[in-house]
Amino acid sequence: MLQEKKYIDETRQGEAYAGKEIKGNTKKLFLESYGCQMNFSDSEIVASILSDIGYNTTTKVEEADLILLNTCSVREKAEQTVRMRLSQFKKQKEYNPSLTVGVLGCMAERLKTKLLEEEQLVDLVVGPDAYRDLPNLLRETQEGRDAINVMLSKEETYADISPVRLSGSGVTAFVTITRGCDNMCTFCIVPFTRGRERSRDPHSIIKECQELWNNGYKEVTLLGQNVDSYLWYGGGAKKDFTKASPMQQATALHFAHLLEMVAQAVPQMRIRFATSNPQDMSIDVFKMMAKYPNICRYVHLPIQSGSDAMLRAMNRQHTRQQYLDLIKEAKLIVPDIAFSQDIMVGFSGETEADHQDTLSLMKEVEYDYGYMFAYSERPGTPAHKKMPDNIPDEVKKRRLQEVIDLQGELSSARMKTYVGKYHEVLIDGESKKNKNQWKGRNSQNVVVVFDKKQGEKLGDFVTVFAYDSTRGTLLARHEA
Ligand code: SAH
Ligand code: F3S
Repeated sequence: MLQEKKYIDETRQGEAYAGKEIKGNTKKLFLESYGCQMNFSDSEIVASILSDIGYNTTTKVEEADLILLNTCSVREKAEQTVRMRLSQFKKQKEYNPSLTVGVLGCMAERLKTKLLEEEQLVDLVVGPDAYRDLPNLLRETQEGRDAINVMLSKEETYADISPVRLSGSGVTAFVTITRGCDNMCTFCIVPFTRGRERSRDPHSIIKECQELWNNGYKEVTLLGQNVDSYLWYGGGAKKDFTKASPMQQATALHFAHLLEMVAQAVPQMRIRFATSNPQDMSIDVFKMMAKYPNICRYVHLPIQSGSDAMLRAMNRQHTRQQYLDLIKEAKLIVPDIAFSQDIMVGFSGETEADHQDTLSLMKEVEYDYGYMFAYSERPGTPAHKKMPDNIPDEVKKRRLQEVIDLQGELSSARMKTYVGKYHEVLIDGESKKNKNQWKGRNSQNVVVVFDKKQGEKLGDFVTVFAYDSTRGTLLARHEA
């Protein structure tokens, strides 16, 4: 999972899902997800659609009738990882000629028929808005034809599909609230692979959160490429909002309101959300955090660069100062708030001074955590068309290492501020290093480990005392 990888310059690796047995299903689906949390959430929708036509998920590739990779295109390396993975299925296909291999998600959308041409092994290509068509497409592959659907939609939100929960140990879950992105950051492929931004019916969101609570889940993460841009006016693309009726416009629901509705509907459930884009973040969201203790005090707020020149070149719709002002105001409203970042080094024309601006901004914000990347040019993006990828690899690498090192120092310093205090932790698993310890997270999304106590179980909220910290973890104990 994204949160469990420290300081990465690569997309999350694939993760096959443990078998979920649905009675009567006999076919086996091996499903692996790459990239952002949205893909992991989409895979749960895919598993649900396929469970209706007889598939159970499996972690054993040898027994699969169907292999699906839900892919990421955000950096070249992410695509290479998937291509390598595909080549590993060759043997499987020789051994079982009726095996179907499909590519879903952003690579499917970006490469379309090219994938079928370039990857002999691939029989099926399905874009992120076409998963409902999977049963039809599979019929075609079973008749020996390659099948493809990469239609993007302005309406599809899969609102009525009940996801098969594959990740999160029954304690935490994702609920998608928006799809697509209209922001057109010049470096980014997402607006092309995930299409126009649209929001999901709030009633279906609330219903899904309540069902999760009733099924024992204790934390929900509201997901979107750009959650703060959530806007419900009855359905349809956000960019068509101006064409909505005056009544629809006047009664439209924004993210802060949705957050409040969820906080009230499941008052004992923890609520997180990701990802926020600074330009769409409203102060009302922080006010809701202050008002409702079940909204976690943590915001992932990508900045990309601390330099105004770079922010402009990237088509980010805010300045360095506006971002810093937003953080300052947030800290006033929610004093115990924590922030994490996405930073991308080595974008077109980035000077040493621009890079220094990024480092100084990081110090000013004091992020808890970060996801840091070197710029990877993506075909078809505005940057690819208009801006040279002109920062040498060794410079990108050195700058990346500098931001990673600085984030390490900032994280250690932030961890120290949590030591000597009590934290409410949601137990979400066993510590990997020690079976006698639990691991969980506090409201600020910091991992906390502590000795198990009799009677405690997965999914419990416990209050523990942090007595020490490492770079990314709090060491805690029960106080009598
Ligand atoms: N709003 C999205 C952002 C998606 S991309 C979200 O839900 O997280 C995630 C991060 O990848 C971006 O914030 C950016 O830091 C990085 N990224 C995007 N395009 C990139 C590219 N072409 N090269 C390197 N990193 C990139
Ligand atoms: Fe990409 Fe910018 Fe949207 S980074 S996902 S275009 S907010």
